[in-house]
Amino acid sequence: VTSSESSTFSFWWARLASFVAILPLGVWTVIHLANNLHAFAGAEDWSKHVTQSASPVGQGIVLTLVFLPLAMHTVWGLQRMRSARPNGYGTFGNLKYILQRLTAVGVLLFLGAHIYKAFIEPRFLEGQPENFADFAHTMNHHVPTLVVYLLGTLGVAYHLANGVSSFAWTWGLSAGRKSQARMDGLAVVLFLVLLTMAWGAVYALYQAGASL
Ligand code: HEM
Repeated sequence: VTSSESSTFSFWWARLASFVAILPLGVWTVIHLANNLHAFAGAEDWSKHVTQSASPVGQGIVLTLVFLPLAMHTVWGLQRMRSARPNGYGTFGNLKYILQRLTAVGVLLFLGAHIYKAFIEPRFLEGQPENFADFAHTMNHHVPTLVVYLLGTLGVAYHLANGVSSFAWTWGLSAGRKSQARMDGLAVVLFLVLLTMAWGAVYALYQAGASL
């Protein structure tokens, strides 16, 4: 390939990898957190929303829509980690940039542990999906699990909220000082909403686990 072909490829690859991180991945993440908030309503309601699915075909489609973008975004992110350096966009810009990369590493570690412990191990090694009582019990009695969920979801909340704002910038949706400032405000709101949802779900599991 010529260098212009390869830069055309990397342009579209970057666009695609940032796009799929928002849609479907980011949207799915919000739904996933909302589903986990059903922990407040107890085991049956939580299982109905988080681990049960009406149709295997639907579930297969959802899993593809989650794992394919996740794999693409991870490969692209790791490529960028190796090449990119902080830019000259001032202290705030560089701080956001550094935090975006720091949380990228945190989210990668969190998701590796989370997907293995909550999805692969129960379903494929133990033969049944994650059980509410076991999960809630661990959240309450195993401090490392609690800490990993609190910090991991903190990282996800930042990474996704800041990701939406840099996505808007990359795609030319927030050119200009005013719309950039509006986007920063939106990112703060989104961060707080995501964090409240995630920590709310962790709190509900923790509390349910006290008596289990
Ligand atoms: C409060 C925090 C969270 C809780 C309590 C939680 C709980 C769960 C549970 C129980 C499963 C297994 C579901 C099943 O077997 O069908 C699961 C799967 C999964 N979680 Fe989470 N999760 C949380 C946060 C997150 C976050 C922030 C992400 C980031 C994107 C995430 C990504 C995934 C993925 C990719 C799967 C596997 C796909 C699936 O089962 O649908 N989770 N989660």
